[in-house]
Amino acid sequence: MCGIVGYTGRRECRDILVNSLKKLEYRGYDSAGIAVIENGSIKTIKAKGKISEGLESKLAETGKLDAVTGIGHTRWATHGEPSDINSHPIGNSRITIVHNGIIENYRKLKSFLIDKGYNFESETDTETVAKLLDYYYTGNPIEAISKAVTDIEGAYALGIMFKDYPDMIYAVRKDSPLIVGSGNGEMFIASDMTALLEYTKEYYLLETGEIASIRADGVSFCDLHGNKLTKQIQTATWDVSEAEKGGFEHFMLKEIHEQPSAVKKTVSPRIKDGLPCFEECGLTDEMLRNYHHIYIIACGSAMHAGMIGKYIIESLARTPVIVDIASEFRYRNPLLKSDDLVVIVSQSGETADTKAALELANEVGADTLALVNVVGSSIAREAKMVMYTYAGPEISVASTKAYMVQSAFMYLLAFRVSLARGAISEDECRTLVKKLEEIPDLISDCISDLDPYRKAASRLIGADSLLYIGRGLDYALSMEGSLKLKEISYIHSESYAAGELKHGTISLIDDGMPVIAVATQRELLAKTISNMREVKTRGAYVIAVCPKGTAIDAESADEIIEIPAADDMLMPLVAVVPLQLIAYYASVLRGNDVDKPRNLAKSVTVE
Ligand code: F6R
Repeated sequence: MCGIVGYTGRRECRDILVNSLKKLEYRGYDSAGIAVIENGSIKTIKAKGKISEGLESKLAETGKLDAVTGIGHTRWATHGEPSDINSHPIGNSRITIVHNGIIENYRKLKSFLIDKGYNFESETDTETVAKLLDYYYTGNPIEAISKAVTDIEGAYALGIMFKDYPDMIYAVRKDSPLIVGSGNGEMFIASDMTALLEYTKEYYLLETGEIASIRADGVSFCDLHGNKLTKQIQTATWDVSEAEKGGFEHFMLKEIHEQPSAVKKTVSPRIKDGLPCFEECGLTDEMLRNYHHIYIIACGSAMHAGMIGKYIIESLARTPVIVDIASEFRYRNPLLKSDDLVVIVSQSGETADTKAALELANEVGADTLALVNVVGSSIAREAKMVMYTYAGPEISVASTKAYMVQSAFMYLLAFRVSLARGAISEDECRTLVKKLEEIPDLISDCISDLDPYRKAASRLIGADSLLYIGRGLDYALSMEGSLKLKEISYIHSESYAAGELKHGTISLIDDGMPVIAVATQRELLAKTISNMREVKTRGAYVIAVCPKGTAIDAESADEIIEIPAADDMLMPLVAVVPLQLIAYYASVLRGNDVDKPRNLAKSVTVE
């Protein structure tokens, strides 16, 4: 994971680097650092902890830096504990680097370099790259970079500075993302565009095997043999305000509030003549008719959106859907065939396991459709077909609006597959689409009064553990509710199919244990209520989440959170909102860093 940035231009670079790094802190916040070229020497300032804790205090001690070229890094530790010494930039007095990725053969490279007389200070894999560059460097940066990356196995995005070239930054990547931003008399590098939106919207996507040589007035690209390359400049569609808190206390709260518009932006462009339309990616009805199975592969919340997809596609289109956790799928020799459709779901488009699953599906010859939020990300580029979700930048580590739009897309897919396969008529499809288009207003209703969620959260914060239960779509949704809570509040929770409790888990229930029961499916309501009673009679404190007017009495629930009613099938898009907000307030009330929960990073580019 980790975030990297770089700047060369006419302005003092220190604040630009720190400011850009702050935008990337969601990628990791174990430590942060910058290196600049000041009076012809490389100067490095780095510290353990978040930028505001470590790096900024050190920079305050350092004072002004007279430098217009520099690189920066915010770290999610993989090799070596979070510490000052393991922080990036890493290098020596003539070469320094920032690195995102993992060098798999670093032990071998390290012993080679030790034999050559190098001493190592940190426990990082990155230090081997810095030393390898030094070993190969004889005055020509491109030659040193080419030789070094030829020896490296693994994933990397590297920002590199050579003391001998004080107004230049070099960049190279394989499997970890990196862009080169182009401004007016100034140039940048960054792991993604959110870091640069304040400065420019123009950028180049660096590809594997390409080296960028960047100076204030432009960039040149070459391959590893030094052959010149011409690349197309791109323009970002995201706006700078989308990557700022805009008056909200946390990004997560802001992103929850952005859900109605994110759903509209994602759904509306895919509706033509009242029906879902996938022309933009070339997915035709004929293809949808002929697929044998649909696989939905993803990690975490994106996988939970896939679970919603499975329930609705199977029940409406009567087509088998297999949802797989990407890290399992890729290693279990799946029964995937070339006549299957594989839907790859990812907000970042960079998740290592999801990307590897996509590569596997491509190898098998299946049709691959990426559902991705970040334009131009690796997964978007490698899939045969791509459709973007239009959530805008999601900064909070805990996914909310991205999950929401991924789930909303599942409905479009379910409706179109059902139509293509003759499971529903055009009229039925239009009615369903209309109902989907009403969802943004219901989400807005849900967030018009936040008190019930704060109150429910206050009940949970003293608990050691709790359960989320539900049946059918409510069970699929419970998985997301439970993940959200544990991720940011650090309270242990599990999601259970309500009917499964009696097969073991109910023994966990004791006095006062909170149970959040999601009860939005009318057909299953009586059964869910029985399960709520079973836990309540054993001492659980039951909080029910259900549509307004649902008949749930005091024997079944201690607290009821009523939400606007929609068609049962569409209820997950509404009912997830209280679950997100309960998790949010639980985290706030426990005094946690909501947007940057411990041990996590948003973009998981390691296995
Ligand atoms: C949880 C969360 C994660 C991501 C998962 C996949 O709140 O955000 O579980 O959903 O890491 O990330 P993407 O969608 O970027 O592939």
